[in-house]
Order: sequence, then structure tokens, then C-alpha cells
Amino acid sequence: MREDFDVLAAIGVTPAGGVDRSSLNDAHLAARKWFVERAAEAGLATRVDAAGNHSALLPADGPTLLLGSHLDSVPNGGRYDGALGVVAALHVLLAVQASGLTLPVELEAIDFTDEEGTLVGLLGSEALTGALAPETLQAPRGGREALVAGLERAGLQEGQLASARREAESLAGYLELHIEQGPVLEHAGAQIGVVNAIVGARSFSLVFRGAAGHAGTTPMDARRDAGLAAASFAVAANELVVRDFPGCVATIGDLQLEPGAYNVVPGKARVALECRSEDGIELERLATALLGAAQREATARRVELEIEPVGRWEPTALDPGICAAIEEVAAGLGLSSLRLRSGAGHDAQALARVTKAGMIFVPSVGGLSHDPGESTSWEDCVNGANVLLGSALLLAHRSR
Ligand code: GLV
Ligand code: MN
Ligand code: MN
Repeated sequence: MREDFDVLAAIGVTPAGGVDRSSLNDAHLAARKWFVERAAEAGLATRVDAAGNHSALLPADGPTLLLGSHLDSVPNGGRYDGALGVVAALHVLLAVQASGLTLPVELEAIDFTDEEGTLVGLLGSEALTGALAPETLQAPRGGREALVAGLERAGLQEGQLASARREAESLAGYLELHIEQGPVLEHAGAQIGVVNAIVGARSFSLVFRGAAGHAGTTPMDARRDAGLAAASFAVAANELVVRDFPGCVATIGDLQLEPGAYNVVPGKARVALECRSEDGIELERLATALLGAAQREATARRVELEIEPVGRWEPTALDPGICAAIEEVAAGLGLSSLRLRSGAGHDAQALARVTKAGMIFVPSVGGLSHDPGESTSWEDCVNGANVLLGSALLLAHRSR
């Protein structure tokens, strides 16, 4: 498993030692190709569906137990996010294959398309569960142009994506091993995280439109500075969440000024806004409050504001029976475990809408993630893979 993990980490490697496998870029496509070739060489069946999800299969007479995650990364991301879950899933299949066990479920290790949302977010898992909304494809997070180009590079047909849908009855469940991406397990000294819920998120593309002008001659009180409005909003958004929405988060992850020069007052500012909460009603209130703050800052700076919703993930509870099974397996292996919620989004939240879904976390060193410095000790990775294997076997036998 270590060898495979390292081969994968070299695909799209960055100078800082992370990876850049933004959805459907060349490195991401190369990683996906490596995955199915590695599986085929080991004698597993392979499949790529209409949404580009890449799978390795250990066929059996029975419904499919999916084990998965994703091989795409955020721009300039880390080696573990998603990749650990896919490599571990592959090795669960290899271990079962090597043991000669016949299970009452088909095991499928799956690499979902575009989990991270550089293009859409949960694209492959929502296609598989029938939740991919056509409007989302028209106004995706990464912009329509990037999506069309990515699909073309991957040889995917937009009109066919939804046909990756599977019937709920064909599925026995879904398990995902992932790094925690936060500090909770490390602080608690726990080896395994049992995820009981995943936060929901809303994302918006905001455009502040003012008036560009000469930076030397336009008096300060005559400006309609779109950059200033965006910057004031960034500060206001942070204050608002800290003051009124404890436990929630909001992020401005991208801010682009146009035309973008030292000597021009920005006429336009494009802002990528995202917010998250584990409670659906609170998430709506948070989004409304943030958009209200954006409008107030725009009005105060005499600029126009355009708001486009570009992403929507609902807060999701994971299956209590699977949580208990993961705990039981961890205890059986002598590993300490802790229940926690995930502040990061995962394919598991799409799967949970149609089948029993569960997630296993392993500690992230320093809680760091979405960064090249992202790291998990190899011992913890192996612990996670063993819990994935044990949980898959337990669920397989219980599905009889
Ligand atoms: C995925 O990692 C997300 O939570 O954005
Ligand atoms: Mn991930
Ligand atoms: Mn991620």
C-alpha cells in the first residue's frame, strides 16, 4: 500500500512536496489512469462510468459495497486528501482477493470525479446517486468554461453524466477512509475518528462592480472602488461569523480585481464566498446574513453587487449502525476511537442520500490540510486501512 501511495503522490507533485491534481487536469487524469491500470494488473475488474468515476471491482453475487474517495486535489494541495481513501480501498480489494474469501457483496473501490469543487464539487458522487442538478452544471464553482474544457479533456459527455446513476437497491453501503483535515483527533490522542455528521456548505460567486479610474487623479471621495468594497466585505464577513454564528465558518477563498494594476482604481472585484454549518436552518441564516453584509458594503461604497449561487451541499448525518460497526472494529484492533463531525465535505454526504454511509478518519499532523504540508503518520494510514477492511467485512457479513 505504501508503494502505491508513493507512486500516486508523485503524479502531479509540486515543488513543495504536495500535489496539484485539480479536477480533470492532466495530472489528475494520469492518476486516474494509473489507478485502473494498477487494479487491472492485479487481476481486478475495472470500470469507468458515464460521470468518469473510476472503479476497481471484486465481483460477487450480491449488492455492491462501495469503498471510495477521490484522486483530485485542491490547487496546490496535499498528498493524503482523497488519495489515501482510494489507495486503501484498492488494498481492501487486494487483501480480500488474496485471502480467497467469497463475500455476499461485490466490493468496488471507487475514485469519484471532481470531489473538491475546482469545477463543480461532488460531481461524480452526485451523478451516481442521482442528485446532480442540471442548473449546477450551468453555473459551476469553477466557471462554465473550465467545466466544459475539463469534460472534454476527460472525454466525458455533459449530457451523459446523469446516466451514471445507480439504483439504491444495487448498493449495500458506502465506506470512506479519509484524513481528518483538522486537529480534533490529534488533540484528543485518538487513533481513529468515527464520523457521525458532515457539515453543509453554500458557495456564491459575487461581483462588486464600481468604476475603474486613474489611481493618481481620482480623488478619494469620488471613487467607486470595487476592490475596497470587496475588502470591507471580507472583514465584515469574518466579524459577523465570529460574533453571530459560533461553530460556523465562512471563507473568501479567492478575490480578483480588474483590471488589476498599481495605477488603476479597481472597477470590478470577483469574490469566491463559501460558508458552512452542520445545521441546515442555521446554514440558510448564515448565507442570508453574509449576502446582506455584502450588499451593505456595496451600498456604502456606491458599487453594484451581483450574486450567483454556485454550490450547495446539505448537512448530512452518517449511518449510526455503520458508526457502531467502525467503533467495534477499531476496538477489536486495539485502536482508540472518537466520534466527531466533519467540517470538510466528502463524497460520503452524497452517498448517504441513497445508502448507508460511514466514514473513518485518521489524524492529520497539526490539523493541516488543503496544503502541501498535509501529513498523516504512515502508522495511522495503515490503522485506517485496517479499520476500513474490518468494517467492510463486518458490513458484508451483516448484509446477508
Ligand atoms: C473538500 O475538501 C471540501 O470540504 O471543500
Ligand atoms: Mn477529500
Ligand atoms: Mn479536500
